[in-house]
Amino acid sequence: MSKIILDVLSGVIPERPPVWLMRQAGRYLPEYREVRATARNFIDFCLTPEKATAVTLQPIERFGFDAAILFADILLVPMALGRRVWFETGEGPKLDPLSAEDIAGMSVGDVETILGPVGETVARLSKQLPGETTLIGFAGSPWTVATYMIEGGGSKDRWNARRLYWEHPEAMQRLLDLLSEATIRYLVMQARAGADVLKLFDSWAEGLPPPMFEDLVIRPTRKIVDGVRAAGIDVPIIGFPKGAGPNYLGYADRAGVTALALDHSLNTEWAVSELPSGMPLQGQLDPAVLRAGGHALDGEVDRIISAYSGRPHIFNLGHGITPDVPIENVQRLVKRIKGH
Ligand code: CP3
Repeated sequence: MSKIILDVLSGVIPERPPVWLMRQAGRYLPEYREVRATARNFIDFCLTPEKATAVTLQPIERFGFDAAILFADILLVPMALGRRVWFETGEGPKLDPLSAEDIAGMSVGDVETILGPVGETVARLSKQLPGETTLIGFAGSPWTVATYMIEGGGSKDRWNARRLYWEHPEAMQRLLDLLSEATIRYLVMQARAGADVLKLFDSWAEGLPPPMFEDLVIRPTRKIVDGVRAAGIDVPIIGFPKGAGPNYLGYADRAGVTALALDHSLNTEWAVSELPSGMPLQGQLDPAVLRAGGHALDGEVDRIISAYSGRPHIFNLGHGITPDVPIENVQRLVKRIKGH
């Protein structure tokens, strides 16, 4: 059976855009919250193939999305570099903050063993998903994962990570290299286990001056794409340099990805006219309008579909779905897209 998302990623312009949503397995679903409550903590949840498989399938069963995204988190990779990661309810991820000295002593561990349960989840999903549903594996891009590692969690302006780049460039480069190496092995494992597509999340690509965008976003992404290709993996790779603005252009030219995921702050007309015409695009509905629903939602869905109608396009949000989204809004969205 053919998978519409793979068709679009190979350059086909579909009759109606395929659709899936970032964070589609999540707290807005009662069935997700039920499984989540049986896990000791979020990391255990991600590393329990039976539970991770179950919640990955939930939004497919409920809404019939065209893709399933592996249930895991971008902050599992630091564990493969020997770092502790934990999630505090209401506060998000926590790690032990990293200094330049810590980085000097770090090394890549046995990725395939430490993150092996994720490979097992992918293998289960590739057997259980409907034949027309694309399975997306993913990882964080090195810069975004590095920001969480250096800051010890989320932060408003990534100040310590940005300082480290200027004050200890060799330490920053070493951290990016270690993350790239671990991420290549992690993604190769996912592709070998059955992922049809890989996606790289660079959630903190915004606000970087040119040398930083080149060194922190483009080069490490290119390195991962080249490393995955060198291992003989030829699945499409979607890059998501969130908030990159006009830097999306250089990224499209040089990062080596197959397709671009666009966030909702990027000007749609600019994207249509400036980004390479054959390059498949994904996005870019504002998560807030999905929360709002109604005619505002319909209008935005129509605007986005018509703007990208001449090119290969996958409908998605510009960032993850929020826990407060009513299920009927998601139903309304899917119905409207499938009716186009
Ligand atoms: O459905 C999917 O999209 C697949 C699973 C997925 C999760 N996280 C599950 C998750 C994916 C692709 C991610 C990516 C991720 N994780 C990113 C990149 C995308 C983005 O949002 O910018 C980032 C930055 C993270 C790190 C992370 N994980 C944070 C900051 C948080 C806390 C914020 C929050 O929403 O609570 C998480 C937790 C997390 N990851 C949840 C889920 C479903 C919620 C935790 C829970 O259920 O208790």
